[in-house]
Order: sequence, then C-alpha cells, then structure tokens
Amino acid sequence: MKKVSAIIFAIIFAAMTAGVAVAGPGPGTGISGSKHDLSGLVPGEVQLCIYCHAPHNGTGAAGGLLWNHSPSAATYNMYTEEAASDPAFANFINGAQDAEPTGSAKLCLSCHDGTVAIDAYGGAAGTVNMTAFPNANLGLDLSDDHPISIVYDDAADLGLFPKAAVNLGAVNLTDILENDKINCVACHDVHNSPGETVDAPFVRVTMTGSALCLRCHDK
Ligand code: HEC
Ligand code: HEC
Ligand code: HEC
Ligand code: HEC
Repeated sequence: MKKVSAIIFAIIFAAMTAGVAVAGPGPGTGISGSKHDLSGLVPGEVQLCIYCHAPHNGTGAAGGLLWNHSPSAATYNMYTEEAASDPAFANFINGAQDAEPTGSAKLCLSCHDGTVAIDAYGGAAGTVNMTAFPNANLGLDLSDDHPISIVYDDAADLGLFPKAAVNLGAVNLTDILENDKINCVACHDVHNSPGETVDAPFVRVTMTGSALCLRCHDK
C-alpha cells in the first residue's frame, strides 16, 4: 500500500514539476519553458521536439511531419447541432464536417484525448497519461468543444468573415486551413512560435474581448 502511494506521489510530483516549467518565458518565445516543454517528463530526456518529432525513424504514424508520437486509435463523438433533441438546431452549421477528426487534429488528440501516454514516443509505451493534466484532457466527447475538421464555408455561412480577410496573429487563416477545414491549429499555435503575442493557452489571438472569436465570426 505504502509503495502504491509512493508511486502515486511520484507521478503527481512528476506532473507538478512538469507543470512548473509552465509559467513560461512569454508569448512568441518558442517551446522551451512553455506547457509543451515536456523535457522534464521523462527522467533524463533533455530534448524538446522528440515527444512529437524525430529526425529519423519516427513512428511515421501521421505519414509526415517526422511524427514521433504514438497515434490514438479512438473514435470520437464530434460536434453536433443536437438536432436529435431539437431539429431547429440543425440549421446553424453550414460547413461540411468530417465524421472523425482529420489532419493535424489527430496529432493533438494523440495526447489530448487521454488514451495514449504523453511520453509514448519513439515506440515506447510511455507512463504519464493526460489524466495527470485534467484541464488539458479533452477526452473522446468533442461534442462540447468548438467544431473542428469542418470546412470554413464563408459562402454558405454569412456570419463568417471572408477567409482571405481573416488574420490570426502571426498567420493568416488561409495559411493554416487543411483541405479548407479548420482544426485545433486554427486557434492554437502548438509551438508558441515567434510572432505570437499571447502565451496561454497557446491561442493565436487574445481572448480579451473575445478577440480570437471575432476574427472569424462577424458578431
Ligand atoms: C507537443 C508536440 C510538439 C512539439 C513538442 C513540437 N512540435 Fe512541431 N508540430 C507539432 C504539430 C502538431 C505540428 C502540425 C501542426 C502545425 O503545423 O502546427 C507540428 C509541425 C511542425 C513543423 C511543420 C510545420 C511548420 O510549422 O513549419 C515543423 C517544422 C515543426 N513542427 C518543428 C518543430 C521543432 C523544431 C520542435 C522542437 C523545437 C517542435 N516542432 C516541437 C507538434 C509539436
Ligand atoms: C475555435 C478556436 C479553438 C479551436 C478550434 C480549438 N481550441 Fe482549444 N482553446 C481555445 C480557447 C479560446 C481556449 C482558452 C479557453 C479559456 O481560457 O477559457 C482553449 C483552451 C484549450 C486547452 C486548455 C484547457 C482548457 O480547456 O482551457 C486545451 C488543452 C485545448 N484548448 C486544446 C485544443 C485541442 C486539442 C483542439 C483540437 C481538438 C482545440 N483546442 C481546438 C480555442 C480553440
Ligand atoms: C506529446 C503530447 C502532446 C501533443 C502531441 C500536443 N500536446 Fe498540447 N499539451 C500537452 C500537455 C502534457 C499539456 C499540459 C501541460 C501542463 O499543463 O503542464 C498540454 C497543454 C496544451 C494546452 C494548454 C496550454 C495552457 O497554457 O493551459 C493547449 C491549448 C494545447 N496543449 C494545445 C495543443 C494542440 C492544439 C496540439 C496539436 C496542434 C497539441 N496541444 C499537441 C501535450 C501535448
Ligand atoms: C479560425 C476561425 C474561427 C475562430 C477563431 C472561431 N470560430 Fe467558431 N466557428 C468557425 C467555423 C468555421 C464554424 C462552423 C460554422 C459553420 O459551418 O456554419 C464555427 C462554429 C462555431 C459555433 C457553432 C455555430 C453553430 O451553428 O452551431 C459557435 C457557437 C462558435 N463557432 C463560437 C466561437 C467562439 C465562442 C469562438 C472563440 C472562442 C470561436 N467560435 C472562434 C470558425 C471559427
């Protein structure tokens, strides 16, 4: 029993110390020191990129991007208009949405759905699950999350600004659409790249005054 609680303590402690790196050095200063600086998670691991990319012999799971993290085999409950409970809701969504997350959303969810260990990289099974970071664990039910893997259809939805006019901080919307669809990366910059002006939580535009939302939605 004592041993078990010691292990649990070690896990919690590891999670907390991983969290200490969090405060971060500020917006636009890269991965180091950000919440995606996971270098402290695995004892002895000094690299930053390795949890997600490897220069050689990555997992190849994503088919590109030198992806090095184990994929998730989960299926998800996507955003829905709740048409089943009230048909009137079926009228709002205009963009075509994939039945399951696609593109880079799959990469984010390989950690953020909570089914694959965060340190499952380079073929290792890993030990620390996203359950250690409950706030960042989206789970498999994405119906309560902003729609993803959905076409930014500014022709059909007149409440959306024309895509060519949408700027998202360091990038323009058209640079990061994937097959015309928005994914997690439409709102988040996973690398806290130079040019970003907001650090937490990796959002591309400040949430003060809901500015991020108002870049796309004409409200
Ligand atoms: C927590 C996971 C994660 C970490 C850590 C990470 N990346 Fe990425 N990277 C991604 C994801 C997801 C994408 C694809 C989505 C995108 O482009 O934003 C990506 C895309 C890229 C791309 C191609 C697209 C582009 O932005 O040019 C490059 C190059 C890249 N990463 C380099 C790096 C380097 C170098 C490091 C380490 C300093 C690093 N990444 C750390 C997740 C990560
Ligand atoms: C339409 C924009 C948008 C999209 C798309 C989006 N997010 Fe977010 N996300 C946000 C905003 C804004 C916040 C900050 C919420 C707050 O602080 O109240 C956030 C917060 C988060 C957080 C921090 C925990 C939390 O709930 O505050 C995580 C983790 C996260 N997002 C991951 C993801 C992942 C993974 C995806 C894709 C599956 C995604 N996001 C898609 C806008 C978005
Ligand atoms: C290798 C695993 C991994 C991948 C892949 C990954 N993340 Fe994360 N992410 C984490 C962990 C772990 C945390 C929580 C760290 C903490 O709270 O200390 C986190 C935190 C976040 C947060 C919250 C930051 C904050 O300040 O609260 C957001 C937003 C986020 N991730 C978005 C994304 C998006 C978007 C992608 C894909 C483009 C992605 N992540 C890919 C591991 C990952
Ligand atoms: C990068 C562009 C973008 C950003 C930023 C963005 N959205 Fe969206 N949002 C979309 C798209 C595209 C849809 C799907 C619209 C459609 O197909 O009719 C959508 C759908 C929605 C819906 C569902 C509408 C419906 O009919 O069910 C709501 C609500 C919403 N967004 C609110 C927000 C809020 C709140 C924010 C800020 C936290 C935000 N959005 C940020 C692009 C964006």
